[in-house]
Amino acid sequence: MHLLIPAAGSGRRMGSQRNKLLLTLLGKPLLSWTLAAAEASQHISWIGIMGQPDDFPDFKAIVSDLSLAKPVELIQGGATRQESVYNGLQALPPNADRVLIHDGARCLATAELFDRSAEALLTCPGLIVAVPVKDTIKVVDERRIVRDTPDRSNLWAAQTPQGFEVKLLKQCHEEGRQKGWEVTDDAALFEKCGLPVQIVEGEETNLKVTTPVDLALAEFILRQRTE
Ligand code: CTP
Ligand code: MG
Repeated sequence: MHLLIPAAGSGRRMGSQRNKLLLTLLGKPLLSWTLAAAEASQHISWIGIMGQPDDFPDFKAIVSDLSLAKPVELIQGGATRQESVYNGLQALPPNADRVLIHDGARCLATAELFDRSAEALLTCPGLIVAVPVKDTIKVVDERRIVRDTPDRSNLWAAQTPQGFEVKLLKQCHEEGRQKGWEVTDDAALFEKCGLPVQIVEGEETNLKVTTPVDLALAEFILRQRTE
């Protein structure tokens, strides 16, 4: 199965000077942990990484240090995650019928999670990995007054990998561009097009490294795994 890794962000919320995926975790760049898990997944046979061209020399060095057995392609990312995934979909080899999409910033996802997602994708057109929400979530208006408290038992926090039939996801992205939909994950496009998105059990440790505290947490979890 083919895997696309959006890695073309700038890491604004991390407050660092460069792409947060190039920051080090236990001495290795964040992106190299993500790639190592993808390499270890038995179902993934091809990896495309969407990045900003300025980061390509660093990405190439990371890929070559890992000496991956799987083919890796660097693809020019866009101004938003949505655009980066769009570019990635265009760059897939013609034989790609199903694709997993996994944020480079989720560097703690395990090979087992990739395998579980890939297997589930053989029997449904679209899926996301997700975990039950632990906090009580409030819907708030612009004056910061709470408007609603949705029933927590129906709430799941979306993670990646997310997986789709390539033909369907491409159609959803085209429709999204025509209609000006702005979304933060690919499942949202699938939903807006009326297509079903299956939930696959995610991992509590599969956090997205977004702010400095996430970096510290990720390092803690990785250190425990490597001990
Ligand atoms: N991403 C991307 N193309 C963009 C923006 C984001 O490929 N134009 C990727 C990021 O590299 C990341 C994933 O999408 O792996 C999730 O995005 P996010 O965590 O928001 O990363 P950044 O956009 O880099 O962070 P921020 O929003 O804080 O700037
Ligand atoms: Mg972002």
